[in-house]
Amino acid sequence: MKDYKRHLVTAALPYANGPVHIGHLAGNFLPADIYARYLRAKGEDVKFICGTDEHGVPITIRAMKEGVTPQDIVDKYHKIIDDSLKTMGISFDIFSRTSNQIHHETSQAFFKTLYDKGLFEEKESEQYFDEEKQTFLADRYITGTCPKCSNENAYGDQCEKCGSTLSPDELINPKSTLSDSIPIKKKTTHWYLPLQNYETWLKQWIVEDHKEWKNNVYGQCKSWLDNGLQPRAMTRDSNWGVKVPIEGVAGKVLYVWFDAPIGYISATKELTNQWADYWCKDDTKLVHFLGKDNIVFHCIIFPAMLKAHGGFVLPDNVPANEFLNIEGEKVSTSRNWAVWVDEYVKDFPDMQDAMRYTLIANAPETKDNDFTWKDFQDRNNSELVAILGNFVNRAFVLMHKLCNGRVPAFHLEAKDEKDDALFEKIVNTKKQLEQSIEQYRYREALFTVIDLAREGNKYLQDKEPWKHTDNQVLIDNSLHLCLQLCANLAIYINPFLPFTAKKMCKLMKVVDKMLEWKNGGSLELLKVNYPLNPPELLFRKVEDDEIAFQKAKLENNKIQQVIEVAKTEMIESQISPLKNEIVFDDFEKIDLRVGKIIEAMKVPKADKLLQLTVDLGFEKRTVVSGIAAHYSPEEVIGKQVTLVANLAPRKMRGIESNGMILMAENAEGKLIFVNPSEEAVNGCSVK
Ligand code: 2FM
Ligand code: ZN
Repeated sequence: MKDYKRHLVTAALPYANGPVHIGHLAGNFLPADIYARYLRAKGEDVKFICGTDEHGVPITIRAMKEGVTPQDIVDKYHKIIDDSLKTMGISFDIFSRTSNQIHHETSQAFFKTLYDKGLFEEKESEQYFDEEKQTFLADRYITGTCPKCSNENAYGDQCEKCGSTLSPDELINPKSTLSDSIPIKKKTTHWYLPLQNYETWLKQWIVEDHKEWKNNVYGQCKSWLDNGLQPRAMTRDSNWGVKVPIEGVAGKVLYVWFDAPIGYISATKELTNQWADYWCKDDTKLVHFLGKDNIVFHCIIFPAMLKAHGGFVLPDNVPANEFLNIEGEKVSTSRNWAVWVDEYVKDFPDMQDAMRYTLIANAPETKDNDFTWKDFQDRNNSELVAILGNFVNRAFVLMHKLCNGRVPAFHLEAKDEKDDALFEKIVNTKKQLEQSIEQYRYREALFTVIDLAREGNKYLQDKEPWKHTDNQVLIDNSLHLCLQLCANLAIYINPFLPFTAKKMCKLMKVVDKMLEWKNGGSLELLKVNYPLNPPELLFRKVEDDEIAFQKAKLENNKIQQVIEVAKTEMIESQISPLKNEIVFDDFEKIDLRVGKIIEAMKVPKADKLLQLTVDLGFEKRTVVSGIAAHYSPEEVIGKQVTLVANLAPRKMRGIESNGMILMAENAEGKLIFVNPSEEAVNGCSVK
């Protein structure tokens, strides 16, 4: 194995278009955090890099929906995400943003290097264009029917129902989500990275040289490579993102998957002047943590970009996780089926480790896994409380009761095989943990620590010091060992449950420095006769009503979301799309006048029509209006109205109508008059 001097640990940058959910924690942030914390405890030189991914189509869509700017959206969610992840103890060295100037400069310079080297193919192609909105449509802006499963709401890049990856050309009846109009095809130029040129190198680098990568990662990469790589556009038509740094090119930005991974480099630049040591020296070990949907970008596209550029280290490993479902259903942000981290930390203050524990215990390391609130309760109550918490508490209670609150001595001459077995277990656990953590197997590692605590409980149960009040040697030896085990447990649990490790240090009155990994396996961590703090529970039980509340909240969120969507759809269906733009001269042609209805009667055999006489001051007009379903003749007499006065006469049911009365619609669909808010002069113009 190579002797690495530095470690770069990255967690995939979450999109700043919404809060993060516990699936992000389980798949990405927690594994990266455990690894970074472990390396730091070992005294390694490590930088843990992350930030928000602030470009891309979902952000612009969200901004449009909320009627705000994309910048407003990313500012809002960057803060929410940053706060909630830090509260959960994710120990980034930097949590940056891709909207930062340094990132725009870094990614533009990266693109420019590839451009100047002539590594892009410039290609003209036909892409969908929304004529009403006068804009090219990114794949996500186009919806239509999925050719594979007939879902009518598939996106131009993916069908969320059957999971197929699509291209907009495959959609049946494509429609623009911006205007609901049918898009046309229009020519546009983009810069493509010919990934096929890197295929041979990638095959060697991954398929031959990285056989140790996780099966799910290796398998996905191999299948991409076996299917053959295609050129991929690295630019997009948009105004939101990093501008394409080519002179004379406007309205184009870097593809979000081109700029986002460069975000790891720019964030490191922002963090330290020594950034190049981390990114450009090959004794740096770079490890990317991410979810399975990001594998191809981190294992194929980004490495090809790095290789094309030259001078950068490549990832040593990409231990991607699968997905975490919630209560047996796939997480869906559009259906609001998720447990949001910012809400969790509000609902369960000071219980970060309970969630960290449950998520690591259920980490979707090799297959999709499920989170249920019941399991959260069970793991907390019967593992954290009943095993780890219970052991530490018993050791402290007994030590205060039987040893005056001080660390008792260990009488070597009385050591027995149970003591030896426990000691051996403490030492072996360290090796096992190192193996598991270094191979990114965190569930296994966590259970190894819990097993050790379980062993502690068993040992206490065997020794029963409370029953041997006449045998101080037995009491001393058993509690001495148990307290040293507590100290070791704090070291071992620290990468996983850092809040708990800190509490344990407080109980033992030791500084955090004790948590250094090199101290693991020692039986001299707590000095004999050292006074320790009184016992304090490490964990609290989770009650049934808390779980019932969370389950109801999940269901309720889902229902609320369905109602919201239905409401939006109703409003959208009532409001007709904007008509094509007109010039002022067009408007000038319409002669709008205020008039007063002075006579009204029903038009025989026509349910909808009223025949009105409108006084325009300078003349009286007959107008036929389709308002009979909303008003009786008596109700409208005396009302002032706005009339299109120069509309060509039109016969309706044999009556000549000379003009048209302007009407609007209220929320119930009733037509209401558009009239001056105060009495105006009949016949005056509306300008
Ligand atoms: O899938 C995602 O959430 C992306 N925002 C991940 C980007 S990771 C990296 F490349 F920046
Ligand atoms: Zn489908």
